[in-house]
Amino acid sequence: MSDAADCPTPSFATVQVQAGFTASAPVPAAVPPIYQSNAFEFESLSHARDLFAHRRDGDVYSRTANPTVAVLEQRVAALEGGIAAVALASGQAAVALTLLALAGRGGHIVAARQLYGGTVDLLEDTLPDWGIETTFVDQDDVDGWRDAVRESTRVFLAETVANPIAQVLDVRRIADIAHAAGVPLVVDNTVATPYLQRPKEFGADVAVHSATKFIGGHGAVLGGVIVDLGTFDFTAAPERWPALSAPSRRLGGQASLADHFAGGSPLIALIKAKYLHDLGPTLSASSAFQLLQGLETLDLRMQRHSASAQLIAEHLRSHPAVAAVHHPGLPTSPWHAASRTYLSRGVPSVFSIELRSAGDPAADFDRVERFISGLRVLRLLANIGDARSIVTHPASMTHSHLSPVQLREAGISSATVRLSIGLEDPADLIADLDRALAAV
Ligand SMILES: Cc1ncc(COP(=O)(O)O)c(C=O)c1O
Repeated sequence: MSDAADCPTPSFATVQVQAGFTASAPVPAAVPPIYQSNAFEFESLSHARDLFAHRRDGDVYSRTANPTVAVLEQRVAALEGGIAAVALASGQAAVALTLLALAGRGGHIVAARQLYGGTVDLLEDTLPDWGIETTFVDQDDVDGWRDAVRESTRVFLAETVANPIAQVLDVRRIADIAHAAGVPLVVDNTVATPYLQRPKEFGADVAVHSATKFIGGHGAVLGGVIVDLGTFDFTAAPERWPALSAPSRRLGGQASLADHFAGGSPLIALIKAKYLHDLGPTLSASSAFQLLQGLETLDLRMQRHSASAQLIAEHLRSHPAVAAVHHPGLPTSPWHAASRTYLSRGVPSVFSIELRSAGDPAADFDRVERFISGLRVLRLLANIGDARSIVTHPASMTHSHLSPVQLREAGISSATVRLSIGLEDPADLIADLDRALAAV
């Protein structure tokens, strides 16, 4: 049977349904099967020896390679226009392993201040224990990115659409500064998804995803994906990336990963052979299967998410109980122009509103509490990108570990309420929000 890849220019919708899998004998199942097996039999001992030595491709053990997981990896890589991907147990694992692999011991990261709270925890609390330091900069402060670069800088990190305020990153400018400094730009493309933006087209080098969110879309399983977009040349300054350029223990000390995987992605090989192998945040075959089920409808869901979010943002903008709506689809947003450049297919469905402040944080908290308890359709959950619409109070939930200064710098106040607009009828969501706002 021929493969969708034989189609010269498959469109997004075809790739999201077919990439990475062709039904084949002996059981030509149309849907990628769940290969629920820890290990895979070798044809012979010499076959096993070749696989262990990375002389041949093949599945050895599901901690680092599983055929169902591989379909997800290839499909997300194809949607992002990347050269290879690795899928992991969570988005958090995707961000962490990317940074461990790129920064290395003593490496320095320049990161946007506007990041998911769990990523800030990783950068501030855990990576410093491993000798990796981060300088945070406002993502719109172009000079700030440039000034933060040190001799030891190894990576830039930002979200293409930051959460909860939905600032749209000027990917092209930040990529140019990263490249002038000789380092890759890693973007977290969770909120935009490759449907709203392909960061590679604007110069990003690695895309990471919490597949838990829109890729799965059903709120039922966690997962993460790292995609090497194939644009960064790690061999240009080999002394900066010894894990890629020096003879690798994973290859018996005989060759470097950069040489051995020169035709593919040495970075993804490093993450799989070292970090996933040694630390073990593996995505299960059944979770990969569920994420693939969701991925098949990504474009349709994103169109609905975006259209409903735009309607709701416009409605809330003139509501007397709402002081501000942080949504780049509104012409008044400082990120409206960036949204038109970088998100040509639709606006984000994760954004925030500011309730009119009651004057002090405790009174704001009461007001937010009354608002949230008045909601009947939007659900109070710590998640985004679900079919269900979700309300969150970042200051007491997802971003509760940030200091007051960090919260202010990320644009989050005690009256900030995050919305993730799901797939329900937008009229029901608007009625629900209006009813709950009437209570404040
Ligand atoms: C933008 C972003 N990146 C990464 C993560 C972490 O993903 P996960 O919850 O799948 O570990 C999240 C989780 O909310 C997120 O919002």
